[in-house]
Amino acid sequence: MSAARAAADATGAGAAVVRGAPRLRGEPLLPGDKSISHRALLLALLAAGESRILDAGDGEDVRTTAAVIACLGARVERVREVSGRVEYRVTSPGREAILEPDGVLDCRNSGTTLRMTAGVVAARPSFAVLDGDASLRRRPVARVVAPLTAMGATFAGRRGGTLPPLAVSGASPLRAIDFAVPVPSAQVKSAILLAALGAEGTTTVRETVITRDHTERMLRARGVAVAAVPWGGEGRGQAVSLVGPASVLPAVERVPADPSAAAFWLVAGAAHPDAELILRGVGTNPSRRAIIDLLRRMGAAVEELSPSDATDAGTEVGEPLADLAVHSSTLRGIDVSPAEVASAIDEIPVLCLAGAIASGTTTIRGAGELRLKESDRIAGIAAGLTALGARVTIEGDDITIHGGARLTGAATDSLTDHRLAMTFAIAGLIAAGETVVRDPDCASISYPGFFSEIERVRA
Ligand code: S3P
Repeated sequence: MSAARAAADATGAGAAVVRGAPRLRGEPLLPGDKSISHRALLLALLAAGESRILDAGDGEDVRTTAAVIACLGARVERVREVSGRVEYRVTSPGREAILEPDGVLDCRNSGTTLRMTAGVVAARPSFAVLDGDASLRRRPVARVVAPLTAMGATFAGRRGGTLPPLAVSGASPLRAIDFAVPVPSAQVKSAILLAALGAEGTTTVRETVITRDHTERMLRARGVAVAAVPWGGEGRGQAVSLVGPASVLPAVERVPADPSAAAFWLVAGAAHPDAELILRGVGTNPSRRAIIDLLRRMGAAVEELSPSDATDAGTEVGEPLADLAVHSSTLRGIDVSPAEVASAIDEIPVLCLAGAIASGTTTIRGAGELRLKESDRIAGIAAGLTALGARVTIEGDDITIHGGARLTGAATDSLTDHRLAMTFAIAGLIAAGETVVRDPDCASISYPGFFSEIERVRA
């Protein structure tokens, strides 16, 4: 039986029931940061020698990247598992000895694996095919194909090379480029930077909003000089450059807890009328912490108990982290700008839940990218919150949530999207009665053990 169904009541195949909880207390266990875990594995493939990754996320997506780097020639060992987090030892011959894979690289549900691996294989004089599940095959790849083609790799894919499966004939060396990313995307920025390691000269990636900068930090920690200077209007953007060809050194890195996973508990703690929760060792990288600042703007009592900055001993290879405490708060609606959407892209579904409970109106503008995630998250969140009694209107790419809802348990559908499954389960802790979450098992894409934590915090 799956964790979701074992921890919650089974209602038949593929559904979990979450009952409203009178109180929420405790310290939910969090997975290792998914974004950092993916990058640590890919950088371990690029580095000649032995790398160690401590406290990595153990969700399906990270396991997928581990399997992909093994197909490209890395030896990947799971050394130990503690509290749902895993230690990897990766031994690799390095960037210049990456193998041509024998078969298709199965990226399963993971867009981050597919897009970042495209950057790695583009810089090899070999052939690779990247594919995934039905959800991944609907997700656009032209955003990585365009810059990597300009660098000298050749791609073919469905619908004129815009959808997976994606075939890549790489080249070595690639050409350096100066590229402005049209839609803010850390995956695209990272794919270009990883390819740039095998390009001749200075590659520059320009973005109008600073998206998560783990790749830049982690490359620097592995001996690659990466420059970042302000760029673009309103001082919100940056130009990131590196000079290739460049070698990546092996590293030992401890992964902080995932702020995108912590976001579910921050909303639960703030929106539930009797809650006190503590979240340990959460990554608070400025390019990932927008959700904390947005919730505080809504009136959420989120406290950083032990903040540390990038120079403190508490940081893990340049990633700041903190213990967070949250308790029941009176929330009010806010206006979220398109730039803020880009900074909190994975947390918008659960932020919508906070908006449904807050007084007043929450408007989320320019959220079109959410339609291109594991599901159409705009449609999915509107359907689920409406079923629970909230009033949500969609106009173009803008979401308006008319707050003040008293949520009542209902049937919701995850659309097999992990972030929707977890948002509706958190709603179930707050709503009166019983909330059914259809297809809950997908939570294990990013957060194995999530449904066990749902049961623990109500105790
Ligand atoms: C990620 C970037 C984001 C995010 C995804 C993880 C990353 O995607 O939604 O979950 O690790 O770089 P985009 O780059 O498509 O916005």
